[in-house]
Amino acid sequence: MKHFHISTDIYFSDGALERLTQITSKKAYIVTDPFMVKGGGIRAITKPLHQGGTDYELFTEVIPDPPLEKVAAGVKGFQASGCDTIIGVGGGSAMDLSKSIRRMAEELNPGVHIPLICIPTTSGTGSEVTSFAVISDTEHQVKIPLVSEDMTPDEAILDAVLVRSVPAGITADTGMDVLTHAIEAYVSTEHNDFSGALAEKAVEIVGQYLYRSYSDNEDAHARKKMHIAATLAGIAFNASSLGLNHGMAHAVGAHFHVPHGRANAMLLPLVIEYNAGVSNVTKNRQLHDPVVERYCTIANVLGLSSVNDVMTIHSLCNYIRYLNEAMGIPLHLSQMLTITKEQYEAELDAMAEAALDDSCTATNPRVPLKPEVIELFRKLW
Ligand SMILES: NC(=O)c1ccc[n+]([C@@H]2O[C@H](COP(=O)([O-])OP(=O)(O)OC[C@H]3O[C@@H](n4cnc5c(N)ncnc54)[C@H](O)[C@@H]3O)[C@@H](O)[C@H]2O)c1
Ligand SMILES: [Fe+2]
Repeated sequence: MKHFHISTDIYFSDGALERLTQITSKKAYIVTDPFMVKGGGIRAITKPLHQGGTDYELFTEVIPDPPLEKVAAGVKGFQASGCDTIIGVGGGSAMDLSKSIRRMAEELNPGVHIPLICIPTTSGTGSEVTSFAVISDTEHQVKIPLVSEDMTPDEAILDAVLVRSVPAGITADTGMDVLTHAIEAYVSTEHNDFSGALAEKAVEIVGQYLYRSYSDNEDAHARKKMHIAATLAGIAFNASSLGLNHGMAHAVGAHFHVPHGRANAMLLPLVIEYNAGVSNVTKNRQLHDPVVERYCTIANVLGLSSVNDVMTIHSLCNYIRYLNEAMGIPLHLSQMLTITKEQYEAELDAMAEAALDDSCTATNPRVPLKPEVIELFRKLW
């Protein structure tokens, strides 16, 4: 028996932030990225709260790939604040931190439910609707995906006005995170028709609107579409989980601080080729392989299909590489890191171990072996 449900209420479209005038909270603890305060963007949140009679306190210690210590600091601040609700405002880093703070605060206050509202300012992680939060253990150089149903936000507010300020490079990285979520959810061992439908729609929107969003920040229509696609892909992978791509991206992020979406984007064609058993010399295949068929459906949604399954997979991978290059995302880590090849090689064993231990990898359609993962990391260099 399978089960599909969405526990987050989603408010979206123009004016969605007005929802904040309606909430019943007396005082909200706002966990947000410092850029929201420096640029004054936080007024888009505090003004409707004020109109609705909700007081607030700000916690602005969010940093990319938030570490455990920030969760502890956030919980301490929450406990002292007298707030009854938490609002996470920012990219995946701010939202994941808000989710972890809420979870820990509930553990410290048994029986108390602390409502959590997540408001994304990037169109990427889908964290506003998932039961995942990724926290970094900097001492051990690992990113830990925490997964628990009670981590899921109660409400998500999707207002694309907040992503207007996202620089092109971050639009590219976060948009490729959306594509990776959708594709990994679509081929995961836990996929189902509901998650599949959402993933296909997210892929279709990325195909039509990611490059437009990247190349013209004034393209409000493209931005709105990408903001929805991020959440659609989030609901899809919340139901079916992810795969090796994310397991490896977490390892790359933890070791070299490569932005999450960028690491995913660079790995995506390599992992598709690996999962599909297709190398650049493969021209055709005789065996029926369900994952190949599913990748071909993704290719068809993007308007890419070729003479046979294998050539269609080549088209899909070439398209992803082309899109990456067009948006300034390098194909290889050696193009962006300042370390030597030897220094990179020295990390490979630990990175492969981390990728294999990562909970996302468990639902990859092909069971990876350590030497294969090391080989994929070598191709990434
Ligand atoms: N919880 C999940 O389901 C899930 C899924 C995928 C990734 N993640 C995690 O989320 C994190 C990545 O999140 P992200 O890709 O959104 O990046 P991020 O939150 O780390 O933000 C990236 C950068 O963009 C800036 N930024 C964010 N919004 C902006 C805006 N509107 N205008 C200008 N600058 C803005 C931030 O200040 C930061 O410097 C990683 O830690 C990743 O592991 C979580
Ligand atoms: Fe992701």
